[in-house]
Amino acid sequence: MTLLADWLRNQTDDETLASVFIAMADAGAEIAAVLRQAPIAGQTGLAGATNVQGEAQKALDVISNDIVLNHLRPNPHVSILISEELDEAVEVSSQGQFIVATDPLDGSSNLDVNVTVGTIFSILPADGGLLQKGSAQLGAGYVAYGPATSMVLRLVGQTAVFTLGSDGGWTLILGAASVPEASGEYAINTARERFWDSATKGYVTENVAGETGAAGKRYNMRWVGSMVADIHRILMRGGIFLYPLDSETVSKGGRLRLLYEANPMAWLVEGAGGKSTTGRERILDVMPVDIHQRVPVILGSAEEVARVEAWYRKAG
Ligand code: AHG
Ligand code: MN
Ligand code: MN
Repeated sequence: MTLLADWLRNQTDDETLASVFIAMADAGAEIAAVLRQAPIAGQTGLAGATNVQGEAQKALDVISNDIVLNHLRPNPHVSILISEELDEAVEVSSQGQFIVATDPLDGSSNLDVNVTVGTIFSILPADGGLLQKGSAQLGAGYVAYGPATSMVLRLVGQTAVFTLGSDGGWTLILGAASVPEASGEYAINTARERFWDSATKGYVTENVAGETGAAGKRYNMRWVGSMVADIHRILMRGGIFLYPLDSETVSKGGRLRLLYEANPMAWLVEGAGGKSTTGRERILDVMPVDIHQRVPVILGSAEEVARVEAWYRKAG
């Protein structure tokens, strides 16, 4: 049995970087414990505030953000925390050499119906400043609070999957996750069809036509509404996740956030052999101009992502 600390020792000689992963893993274990008991503790519903993106914060969004901050605060190696739930970047330690960007609770609309939610994080070098391309990440991870609590991590090597034990420790389940190159499963919110661009319409129409269309094979569709849950399924058995630019989100640049949703997920999926794109460029090559910047997100099995890219090239 390989435990988290052993795995980290194999991935890096840098104990300071490893300590940031451990702090986030501890935060994830604490959030898992809170979520399990939340309906009993009355930690449900709205917090009564909106975040900088104008979204209503749930009580558990705020609690999860506090848990992450509490675990990072004592760590002298963390310079700055960027969070979906914090309007501004927060200084953690003036001497720290790492920036952490986090979506403390992803998929929070699924909380009150007991469907999988998650925590996403990205680790960047502090000397690169607040706005860095995803390709500069030193590592990333997510925790998926499902039937089991899973954690997926990557430094610069392979993407690994852990499970939380009843003792609060993390055990390695899969050392090298591998997203199958081909898949017949796609994830997109089809209720947004009337806003889609021609590339998205073209790709999905082909999928719906299945073996009777140009794709020549049958497709199935899954949409959890928690990016973490959708990406975890794709990481384990393949598929593609799309939250493309559409006519409603175009003015904001997309729906999902670059620094703490798209970049860490792209880092993890690419580490498992999958691909990531905005449709027109690799997600990890996008230069951010704002810490809460949004971006179109297309991630998953290489063949499927390549098909979407081909549709974007055709659209011009
Ligand atoms: P968050 O709860 O952090 O705001 O993120 C929700 C995101 C993502 O998890 C999910 O894929 C997407 O929003 C769902 O969007 P729709 O409501 O359009 O389905
Ligand atoms: Mn999110
Ligand atoms: Mn969130």
